[in-house]
Parts: sequence; structure tokens; C-alpha cells
Amino acid sequence: MDIVYGGDRITYKVIGGVFDLYFFSGSSPELVLEQYTELIGRPAPMPYWSFGFHQCRWGYKNVSDLEGVVDNYAKAGIPLEVMWTDIDYMDAYKDFTLDPINFPLDKMISFVDALHKNGQKYVLILDPGISVNKTDATYVRGLKADVYIKRNEVNYLGEVWPGPVYYPDFLNPRSQAFWGGEIKLFRDLLSFDGLWLDMNELSNFITSPPNPSSNLDNPPYKINNGEVQQSINYRTVPATSLHFGNITEYNAHNLYGLLESKVTNKALVDITGKRPFILSRSTFVSSGKYASHWTGDNAATWNDLAYSIPSILNSGIFGIPMVGADICGFGGNTTEELCRRWIQLGAFYPFARDHSEKNSIRQELYIWDSVASSARKVLGLRYSLLPYFYTLMYEAHTKGTPIARPLFFSFPEDVTTYKINSQFLVGKGVLVSPVLQSGATTVNAYFPKGSWFDLFNVSNSVNAESGKYVTLDAPSDHINVHVGEGNILALQGEAMTTDAARKTAFQLVVVISSSRDSYGQVYLDDGEALDIAGENDQWTLVSFYGTLHNSSVIVTSKVTNGIFALDQRWIIDNIIFLGIPKYQRFNGMDLAGNELNIVKGTDSMRTAVVKSESDSSSQFLNVQVSKLSLLIGEEFKLEIEIK
Ligand code: NOJ
Repeated sequence: MDIVYGGDRITYKVIGGVFDLYFFSGSSPELVLEQYTELIGRPAPMPYWSFGFHQCRWGYKNVSDLEGVVDNYAKAGIPLEVMWTDIDYMDAYKDFTLDPINFPLDKMISFVDALHKNGQKYVLILDPGISVNKTDATYVRGLKADVYIKRNEVNYLGEVWPGPVYYPDFLNPRSQAFWGGEIKLFRDLLSFDGLWLDMNELSNFITSPPNPSSNLDNPPYKINNGEVQQSINYRTVPATSLHFGNITEYNAHNLYGLLESKVTNKALVDITGKRPFILSRSTFVSSGKYASHWTGDNAATWNDLAYSIPSILNSGIFGIPMVGADICGFGGNTTEELCRRWIQLGAFYPFARDHSEKNSIRQELYIWDSVASSARKVLGLRYSLLPYFYTLMYEAHTKGTPIARPLFFSFPEDVTTYKINSQFLVGKGVLVSPVLQSGATTVNAYFPKGSWFDLFNVSNSVNAESGKYVTLDAPSDHINVHVGEGNILALQGEAMTTDAARKTAFQLVVVISSSRDSYGQVYLDDGEALDIAGENDQWTLVSFYGTLHNSSVIVTSKVTNGIFALDQRWIIDNIIFLGIPKYQRFNGMDLAGNELNIVKGTDSMRTAVVKSESDSSSQFLNVQVSKLSLLIGEEFKLEIEIK
């Protein structure tokens, strides 16, 4: 189909299929997404580790190259959670094989074992095309199972990296056993942790001539297929090819990536019994139920850095919230400055992966000192926000709400937010305002109504009595990230792996609002169980409420299934209240002489240390209660009186 957007209208020019239009009435953006994802399927739960930082490249030469990258990350003190391999690991680009010279099985096994011992993970690529090669066992099993897409009564012959290929037909019910079986055999050899499904549009390096017997290969209306108007079959599987049940490619073309994701997801569930991590390039309505997504081959340009924001926001709205763009840019040579700005932004993508094309220069985050030091800073914040990202994944899975959201999601009444695509929110209240231009050291950022606190230095605040643009400093190593009033964040400590970060104490950031109670929640489980909030009760959900009441600030918690969190001995050792308005009740107070008393709490609060400071705008009092040892799995109430 062609879709033409004309500002006040949208035109669909459709050359086939059944066209269903649904309208979801909302009334809020969250409710629209809840209704939409109820129809198409709620986003798949993602494993905890997938929120760590990922490193990939097309063109890693051999196992020592991979080992070197992992070592260099460790040496540079930059957290690396997942190491990836592109098609380079394969023997002659054949799926389910290893290059015997550069990526031999024994060395790959030790490499993956070492990653696992270090709490890290390994993901590898698969392409759909199976090399037509009689010596290839996968190919032979596919022939026997008769699972390939057909044309003119024979298997359709396309061409991708390995040369001539047949494509598995994921509409064929037998494809589950075939594809799942191949994945299992390969995983029995090498215990990878996730799968990357590429080239599944379906991509083909040749354009086969049309079939004269049918007009499907040459329909009367020419869709705008590529930069110049090309044949409908341009570099894909021809429209007259047949899937199981005589369904033509013409009618099923757009579903390939979705069906491949679905079959792969089931295969991984069956094999591992754990929550699968799958990354797919092609998606369709419902893909979020099975896979995550990256925005494909971007270029290492400032434009593509900026485009990454609307791309990931759209994906979230399409029900695929686990999404990111190739950090530092895929095609062409990145620069130190671009890569630094890109990791600053990419650290807040739901899915954060550095990936590049083989003809470009290397761009791992340790290559330049300035990129490395920025990476440590921003990934440090990302890792302390991991419980927040993970809880947003829980929210996405249960309600469909995206992880990364346009500003209008939280501020639908503020029409200025509607056009903003250079900033976004993580969840309801974490506002990311990146630098997107070369040479810039300030950023003109929009702040919807409310008070906002800099998450890198909470004593810096922006107070927007109504929505306003503010020019913020953004020196070369800095990205502006603010938390808005009314939010409560449960953070953990920074670490080199998500596993290590999960072992640190929690800290609550309670942002007091002058107009409403503050709220936040945290969802906790083992990070990989198939069920989210399942019947086995191996999970805990904690909701936090914060209020300003007379001369007290109060935070309370409500716990569902506390046992799981209690077993893990997770504690909160620090609570920070931000945005207590000085001008209202506490005006003219001598801060030094403030007496802050904990008037209610459990025994574990007795030793707590309370400190307060005025924030940079002198409008707010920030209060920090430290040395607590509150069990997060147990309900509590903490009240601080400010005399
Ligand atoms: C195309 C993918 O989009 C890219 O990410 C990958 O590196 C290449 N294929 C090679 O596999």
C-alpha cells in the first residue's frame, strides 16, 4: 500500500488484502494504547538483562576480536551486558553454522562461557534464507519437511548473503518444528541468550521476472516501491510465490517478519523455558507480542540521530515498546562528537545497542576517551534506573503503555507538546532532552507545567508555572534528564552488569507535587520467568505514595506479594524528597536550624540520618533520609515533620 499524509488527511492506496479500520476512543493516550494492544496483543515481556547495554558490529573478525571488545569495555569501566555477533560468525553465511577458522565451536563455547560467568550475555543473528547447498544439514532437513516458499510448483530460489537460498514459509505449520528444531540443535552446541532476526522483509538480492500467467507480479497500480518506482517484486520474494494453503506472497508479504518472530518466540520458550529475547527488523501489527525491534540501517549522521526519537516513539505507539536505533550510527563513519551525543541519547532508548557496518570505522564506546567518560556517566544513570525501565516493561506488558513516550502522553492537555519530537519521556515522568546538533552546548528544551529535577544533580531544578521552553546548559559530556513532580522513582546502584546492579540497595526519589499526591511503582521478579506477575507468586509489586501534609512530607508503600522481595533481602537505604515548596509553608526558615524529625516509622528508621538543602532555584527544600534499612517487601510509612 501507499500511504499519503497530507497534514489534515491520510490516504491509503491499497492494492489488495482486507482492510480493517478500528478506532480507539481513549480518552487518554494511555487508554488508546491499552485498547489497541488488547486487540493486537500486549507487548512481550523482556528479560531484565536486555535493559543492559549491548555491543554489536558487522565485521568482527574472529573470537579474539570479540574477546578484545569485551575486555576493553571492562578496562574502560563501561558496563557491557550483551555481546553480539553479526553474520561474520557463520560458515559461508549459512544459518546454524560456525566459521571453522575464525569462530570455531570450541573457542566460541569458551567465549560464551566466560561471558556467562561474568553475568554477561550473547546474542547472534539469523537470516531467513537457507543456503541451497546439499552439504548443509539444515537445508536438507528443510527440503525433507517441505517448508520452503514455492513459485511455479517448485521452491522459490532467491539470493542473500550465502548466495542462492530458499526461504522457510512461516505460514506453514510444519515450519515450527523445522525452525524450532534447527534453533534447538544449534543452541545445544552454543548457549546463546537471544536471537536477532534480520533481512525478514523478505529481503532478496535479486528481482525475479514477473510471471506472465498472473497479474499479481505486475498489478495495474504501481505502489511507490523504493526511491524510483520499481516492480512490486523489487528485491523481494515475488508476489506470485505461494505460501502454505495457496496463500500468495501478494497477500502475505507484510506478515513474514511477524510470523518468523512468532515461530522463533515459541521455539525459544520451548527450548529454554525462559522469557525469550528476540530482535526483529521487519514488524507488523502484533509483532510486539513476540519481539523487540531496532530501527534498521540508519546512518552515522546528525539527522539520523534526531530521527531516532520519532522512530522509537512510533514503535512504542505501534505496540513494540522494546526498541532502539543503532547507537553512533550504522552506515558511514561516525565521529567522536556524534558518537558521544548518541550514547548520551541512546542510554535512554528502551533497547540500547551500539552497532555499525563493516566498512565503517570502529565505534565501540571505549575508542575515544570523551565518549568513554560520557558513556560511564549516562549508562551509570541508566543502570540506576533499571528497576524503573523494568517496571515500565511490566506496565507495557500488562497495559500496552510504551516505555519511551512522546510528551503528550503525560501532558495531553498541553497542545505545545504535540509537535515535540526532539525530546521524550521515559515512562510518565523522566524527561530526556538531548543535544541533536553538532557543536551545540545548550539545548532549548520544553518543560510542561510543573517542577522538574535534574537526575544527574537533583539540586538543579526547572520550575515551569506553565509549560515553557528553557535553554539548558549541555556541555559536551552532558545530557539533560529531569524527573517531574508527582513521580516516585525506585532506583538502584550503578554496576557493570544488570545482575550486579540488582544486588544493590534501593533509593527512592519522591518528587513532591503542589497539586497532587506523588506516585510510583516497582515490579520485581527474577527477570527471566516466562510469566509476568504469574500465579506462582514469585514476584513483588510495590506502589509508593508521597504527600505533603501540613508541615510534613509522608511516603507510604503498598505491597503485593512481598515474600519474593523479602527473600531477596532487597532494602531501601535512602529516600530523597524533592520539591518541597519553601514558599508555601516554610518561607523564611533558617535552613541550618531546621529540625527534621521522623515522627513515624518502623524500627529500622531509628538510625536514619536526615539532611536538607535548598535547591538551586531556592524555591524548594530537598530532604534526604539516609542509612535506612527498610525492607522493600514490607509496607512502611515514613513521615518527616519540618518545623
Ligand atoms: C542488515 C542489518 O540491518 C544490519 O544491522 C546488519 O549488520 C547487516 N544486515 C548484516 O547482517
